[in-house]
Amino acid sequence: MSITSNTGSARAGSWAPEPVKRVLRPLVQWIGVRYNRAEALWYDIKNKTDTTGSVPAAGLDIPDDLTTHVTGFQSVNEHYLRRVLEEVGFPDGSVFVDIGCGKGKALLIAAEYPFIRKVVGVELAESLCRVSEANIEIARARLGFDKPAEVIHGDAVAIDYSGGENIFFLNNPFDAEFMKIFIDKMEESARRQPRKIWMLYGNPAHANTIAQDGRLKLVREFKFFGPGRNITVFEL
Ligand SMILES: C[S@@+](CC[C@H](N)C(=O)[O-])C[C@H]1O[C@@H](n2cnc3c(N)ncnc32)[C@H](O)[C@@H]1O
Repeated sequence: MSITSNTGSARAGSWAPEPVKRVLRPLVQWIGVRYNRAEALWYDIKNKTDTTGSVPAAGLDIPDDLTTHVTGFQSVNEHYLRRVLEEVGFPDGSVFVDIGCGKGKALLIAAEYPFIRKVVGVELAESLCRVSEANIEIARARLGFDKPAEVIHGDAVAIDYSGGENIFFLNNPFDAEFMKIFIDKMEESARRQPRKIWMLYGNPAHANTIAQDGRLKLVREFKFFGPGRNITVFEL
């Protein structure tokens, strides 16, 4: 099984002949980046949160030896994550974990859904953990956030998951090597506590690694506007 990455051109190519595509692609990318920035700003304006920004791995307060494995910080688009949460059909009592939660935007969004009973964020950068916690407090005060929430400062591929976690959201946090270790962790967890587990993989840069690995089943690919914005859903 092979998956066309959202950064690849094969699928995107079907919307126009190649010469037209060559001219239009940079423009579409430019509009996509601006649209996603505008969405991020609007989310914070309407909710009085702090979830925007873009920080490369080298600019994060994370251990030096991990920098080469990590992609950097950028928040998910609210509408895109909502569409996945609304269309996949998750069971009541789900525990949503954001692997590399950044500033916690996905936690705030997921917690709104009645089928989610708890949200957990795991984040390597301590400064981002503090921002996530502050955002959760803002959401508790202003947005009716009333679910249990936990922000864990640590390496998501070094944690044992055994608290009934069943939805793992990964917004392209790390490289293919870490992805394989993370799948080991999911598998171990499912062996200890048998259950259905989903992986929602945003900006799925290593989707082909997952396909070749073969342990996760591809459920659905959500195509969204803007570079690096697609979300691919896998199941274990
Ligand atoms: C692209 S950001 C996504 C932020 C958030 N999930 C969102 O969508 O709004 C990826 C985040 O993953 C974090 N990260 C990368 N590798 C990690 C790891 N092994 N353990 C915990 N966090 C990690 C980075 O520090 C960064 O904040």
